[in-house]
Amino acid sequence: MNQPSATFDERYRVGRKLVDELGPEGNTQPSTFELLGLEWDVVPGCYAPHPGTGTEYYTTAIPYPLGGSFLEIGCGAGVTAVWAALHGCAHVTATDITDTAVASAALNVERHGIADRAHVRKSDVFADLDPDAKYDTVFWNCSVFEAPRDFEFTQDFEWAIFDPGYAALGRYLAEVPDRLLPGGRALVTFNTLGDFSRVAGLAEDKGVALSLLDSSSRVLAGEQVTYKVFEIVRR
Ligand SMILES: C[S@@+](CC[C@H](N)C(=O)[O-])C[C@H]1O[C@@H](n2cnc3c(N)ncnc32)[C@H](O)[C@@H]1O
Repeated sequence: MNQPSATFDERYRVGRKLVDELGPEGNTQPSTFELLGLEWDVVPGCYAPHPGTGTEYYTTAIPYPLGGSFLEIGCGAGVTAVWAALHGCAHVTATDITDTAVASAALNVERHGIADRAHVRKSDVFADLDPDAKYDTVFWNCSVFEAPRDFEFTQDFEWAIFDPGYAALGRYLAEVPDRLLPGGRALVTFNTLGDFSRVAGLAEDKGVALSLLDSSSRVLAGEQVTYKVFEIVRR
């Protein structure tokens, strides 16, 4: 299913399966989970990354700007943003489009004692951030399954899986170069369950190129998957 020849429908079905198997359906109470040797809060409805998900790998694989500023788009429960603040970033901004992710990440900023250097905001990619704010590193572990353009989200967790028409990723690729301080780095993840040829085409349309920094193969909900970290550079 993760072959380049997989069709839109086949990939979409895998996305739906991940929503069913990894989603928080039925979880109505705030809870905690463990990842990377730490404990994390999650409110009902938010994506809680398990071992084997990209979060675990990306969080330790990406380059952080030591002493600098780090913006995470789509922070979910905030694992990567908190890790950044615990591992040398001086200023961390964690954002997500869903209220349950924003609430979970805020709990984790408090739990890990980093409120002096990390804050959480609700934002649709960059749309709700200060238009002049720039960062040393911007990172998004994005949602890799393309959904139909008229897809309607019925639960917050689906935002962690689906991107209708890859429209949000397209905006990220187009806008992230202007969000960097001099010498800054723009990062994005992708994996072999999504349609990389579509994303490569999108990057070209937006005037950027994707340069592979690192990758790792794992098994997620029975699917063989290779996680990849890319740096986004202007063409
Ligand atoms: C694959 S999940 C990653 C979550 C978290 N960073 C992690 O690694 O566990 C993608 C995240 O992007 C968020 N997201 C999806 N579309 C978004 C958008 N348009 N603007 C901001 N965040 C978005 C989702 O809510 C979800 O939290």
